[in-house]
Amino acid sequence: MSSDDQNNELSQNASEMQAGARLVPRITIQAFCEHSNTAEMIEDLTQDRRMSRVALTTHNGGVEGAIETYKSNPTPNLIIIETSLMVEEIISSLSKLAEVCDSGTQLLVLGHINDVILYRELKSFGVAEYFVLPVNSKTLASAISELFVSDDAKPIGRSIAFIGAKGGIGSSTIAHNSAWSIANNIMQDVVILDMDLAFGTSGLNFNQDPSTGIADALFAKETLDGVMLDRIMTKVAKHINLLGPPCNLDKVYDFSERSFENIIELCQQSVPIVILDIPHVWNDWVKHTLSMVDEIVIVVEPDLANLRNAKNIIDILKTLRPTEAEPLLIVNKSGVAKRPEIAAQEFAASIECKLFEEITFDSAVFGTAANNGQMIAEIAKNHKAVEVFKKIAFRVSGRDNEEANKKKPVGLNLPSLMKLLKRA
Ligand SMILES: Nc1ncnc2c1ncn2[C@@H]1O[C@H](COP(=O)(O)OP(=O)(O)O)[C@@H](O)[C@H]1O
Ligand SMILES: [Mg+2]
Repeated sequence: MSSDDQNNELSQNASEMQAGARLVPRITIQAFCEHSNTAEMIEDLTQDRRMSRVALTTHNGGVEGAIETYKSNPTPNLIIIETSLMVEEIISSLSKLAEVCDSGTQLLVLGHINDVILYRELKSFGVAEYFVLPVNSKTLASAISELFVSDDAKPIGRSIAFIGAKGGIGSSTIAHNSAWSIANNIMQDVVILDMDLAFGTSGLNFNQDPSTGIADALFAKETLDGVMLDRIMTKVAKHINLLGPPCNLDKVYDFSERSFENIIELCQQSVPIVILDIPHVWNDWVKHTLSMVDEIVIVVEPDLANLRNAKNIIDILKTLRPTEAEPLLIVNKSGVAKRPEIAAQEFAASIECKLFEEITFDSAVFGTAANNGQMIAEIAKNHKAVEVFKKIAFRVSGRDNEEANKKKPVGLNLPSLMKLLKRA
């Protein structure tokens, strides 16, 4: 080994030790290679301790293969591209790739041209890193750690809170099914925080025994760290992790305003999507949690009490999150036979919120899923609700959704139900 090699090795080890305490988050990486030895080197990444939580796949076809794939598939957290194209071609192919990439996806390029101008151009184009081949998997692992673990790396996770305007209206069911859809359609890792410690249904819905995950996290307070979090999360399906509730009524649970803050932030450091299943209560911690999350889904049933509660929730959210996008409104359990209901669009217009989607009442399918501990897609994959969960999954994970863009604004010519409310 030359002294240069030794120096490289030493500095590599030093940077590994710095970032070494922390593992790369549960991200998805897809590599598109041109040569089998590059694919083998990338597959060796999985041997690196820092990469133990990463889901990595390698594919053929280089940049063209990636463009074709992502025309019809969501992009992972990191794409690695091997290319033997010439300088101008690299930039133009990567521009085409950028057009089919979701925002938030990082790109790492492995090329054959050793050219500092190309390197600078790629960096200014937004490429996270460019390596000249051959490169070893250790160097690549260090670069990936640097991207996702270093102090300046943004927390990887988006947090999405699901809350019902009343109890028992399907907020948890929708949260769990949306999490399942993210895991299965976007292939992103999800963690579900079931914040209903006494009565939460996440364990039942994923056919798990009661767990103490969320209670362990809460009672650990400041001692909770990434390593402990890994230990107390239960993997309930591929890409789906759960911090489940103990459902033990010997204890009572009173939380302070910031009880969940540290847990949510830690989850965001290690999992791309953090789903908060919030019970129908109104406490300091609920209010605070709603003020800090990236996105909120409000689930309602189409009746007057839901209308009043949803209006109140929307109003308080406007004060708590004045600059954030408005919550997604889901009308659930509509179309119950003989029940007088407020039409979904009318409901939305009355509370001045756009309707995101509507799910009809289907006691057979939802009842079977709940009793079997299965998701709706597992027992009725063509059910309309499955499409809704997919649409929620794409939206909350930050993937643009054409359907959402096409959606017409809510009509204005509607009777004012708020007047009705004022009288109530
Ligand atoms: N669209 C629907 N049609 C029929 N039943 C539903 C529907 N959505 C949810 N449910 C059922 O409603 C019950 C309450 O749902 P849950 O998600 O626990 O509500 P919440 O979290 O709002 O209290 C569950 O039994 C669930 O299976
Ligand atoms: Mg619930």
